[in-house]
Amino acid sequence: MKLIFNALAVTLFLPYHVTFDKVLVSLKMGDSVTLHTGVETNQQDVIKWYFNNTRIAQISGDLSKICTDEPCPGRFRNRLKLDHQTGSLTIMNITNTDSGEYELKIISNNDSKKIFSVSVTDVPAAELYEMKERESVTLDSGVIKHPNDVLTWYFNEILITEISGDQSKICSDVQCKQRFRDRLKLDHQTGSLTIMNTRTTDSGEYELKIISSRFSITTVKRFSVSVTAVPDSGLSSAAVAGIVIVVLLVAAAAAAGVVYRRRRRHTAVPHE
Ligand SMILES: *[C@@H]1O[C@H](CO)[C@@H](O)[C@H](O)[C@H]1NC(C)=O
Ligand SMILES: *[C@@H]1O[C@H](CO)[C@@H](O)[C@H](O)[C@H]1NC(C)=O
Ligand SMILES: *[C@@H]1O[C@H](CO)[C@@H](O)[C@H](O)[C@H]1NC(C)=O
Repeated sequence: MKLIFNALAVTLFLPYHVTFDKVLVSLKMGDSVTLHTGVETNQQDVIKWYFNNTRIAQISGDLSKICTDEPCPGRFRNRLKLDHQTGSLTIMNITNTDSGEYELKIISNNDSKKIFSVSVTDVPAAELYEMKERESVTLDSGVIKHPNDVLTWYFNEILITEISGDQSKICSDVQCKQRFRDRLKLDHQTGSLTIMNTRTTDSGEYELKIISSRFSITTVKRFSVSVTAVPDSGLSSAAVAGIVIVVLLVAAAAAAGVVYRRRRRHTAVPHE
């Protein structure tokens, strides 16, 4: 359930300066993940990606191939992206059949090899949070933040918050301020986002991007929020108080009218 990054803190120095790393990545279905190479490619380098020993992508000079051979196209159906500058591989909208070993081979002056062992938990895609207007909701990051991680929240692609080290920015963007004013709260341990006093206009897609530079991984998690209007509560408590006062005034006026009429009748009596 939780997103856990683990590194086997072993970097073995093999002959010929071949470096070897293994990173364990645990994800939920629907997450996206970028596996970073940590290099800028140059014309001489060749970068190759394998999934369970099948080549899925390669960059060599200006040439890049992605998912050309079966079963890659069938399995990843346009869900792979390759960064041409760095050779980093992005797997979008991950599913449980994507679990396995992603091996990176960099063939350059110094050859290096890195394995990202990815396991995808069998939890349904994109978490859906449903609530009623004016309730609060906490979008659970599912992680324990490391000081080096950078966590960024977006709402429909508007930047809303960023936590980086012990610094955090909440809603410094104008569009964010217009929408959320002071209704956002961040948990600094986990990066979870709380939206208070929700409105129907808070409904939509929220994204949490976690850049974990320690393990050369960027994860994007999606959260769907649906806030439903509460029919009779279109009235604020101030409006309700206003209505009560009006009703009381009307009642008072009516009562006064009755008294007045009565009095008139009483005073009229002697004249009859
Ligand atoms: C992710 O994949 C699921 C099932 O494979 C699909 O129903 C859904 O539309 C996809 N979502 C995105 C954002 O691509
Ligand atoms: C890839 O390898 C992992 C671990 O060996 C295995 O659990 C998984 O089923 C394999 N996936 C595919 C699609 O071959
Ligand atoms: C290759 O790696 C070794 C050991 O990590 C380093 O000392 C050397 O500078 C590297 N050479 C190049 C060309 O990157």
